[in-house]
Amino acid sequence: MQSLTVAVPAKINLSLDVVGRRADGYHLLQSIMQSVSLYDEVYVELDRQGQGIILLCDRPGIPLDDRNTCYRAAGQFLAQAGLMAGVRIFLHKRIPEAAGLAGGSSDAAGVLYALSELCDHPLSLARLQGVAARIGADVPFCLQGGTVLCEGIGEALTPLPPFTGVPLLLVKPDFGLSTPWVFRQLNLASLGLRPDHPAIQAALAAFDLEGLAVSTANVLESVSIPAHPELSLIKQALHEAGATVAMMSGSGPTVFGLFANSQLRDAAQAVLPARLPPRCQLLAAETVSLGPHLTGNI
Ligand code: C5P
Repeated sequence: MQSLTVAVPAKINLSLDVVGRRADGYHLLQSIMQSVSLYDEVYVELDRQGQGIILLCDRPGIPLDDRNTCYRAAGQFLAQAGLMAGVRIFLHKRIPEAAGLAGGSSDAAGVLYALSELCDHPLSLARLQGVAARIGADVPFCLQGGTVLCEGIGEALTPLPPFTGVPLLLVKPDFGLSTPWVFRQLNLASLGLRPDHPAIQAALAAFDLEGLAVSTANVLESVSIPAHPELSLIKQALHEAGATVAMMSGSGPTVFGLFANSQLRDAAQAVLPARLPPRCQLLAAETVSLGPHLTGNI
């Protein structure tokens, strides 16, 4: 029996544009994804004499069968690698779900990373990324981590210079948003403000948050803000509390605020609870450049 524990970071979208739609309904994206220092922990145990997948999680309400991305990741990894083995997974969740922070995708990436280590890397990185892409559009990014321009449906990755150490706050309202629902509502003819990717990449390379603020956008806000106007209030509250950039992450509803320094971030964290809609979760983090990585035991 061998086991290890992997920390997997949440992601935010520093930009998100939709540039087309495939025949199967998936949308073609241009999005700069960024890992942040809010981690789930994934403990994975491999029993080479055993069989079957067992998944446990410390957060109630998470499905523990093949509706769970971790369960599918383990099954598909073993099938692709031609291995018969038993896998036990324990998920210690901190990343809110249905939040636009790629929690489920990060957990799946953690399982792929852990099984790859435990099985002595039977799949090439390209094949591992192929397995990741079949599990979910964000999983390839989550396996890589850092600062990445994601295209296609999210699986075509171009690493960008690290945009590390930027302090941020995450505001998760007390409702979730379903990614399929948000994409289904999207009207490609009226996406609102679109991101300017060359300008965004220049701003990121220079750590120029003002430049990022005027060039970035998330077109999925064209769906989520009319449906949930409190998201606008959260963005405004973040700006008023000192954030240079405030935008929804992914398909939401989490809104992130980027700050020029950690003093400003900490001051905002102190005043925001009184200014946000009731029952919002407020989390402090910073941008990081590592994807899944080994830790001590949970
Ligand atoms: O791939 P994943 O399971 O994360 O995606 C969830 C859903 O979000 C998809 O079934 C699809 O409806 C929508 N989606 C999309 N275009 C993308 C990514 C996701 O339409 N690029």
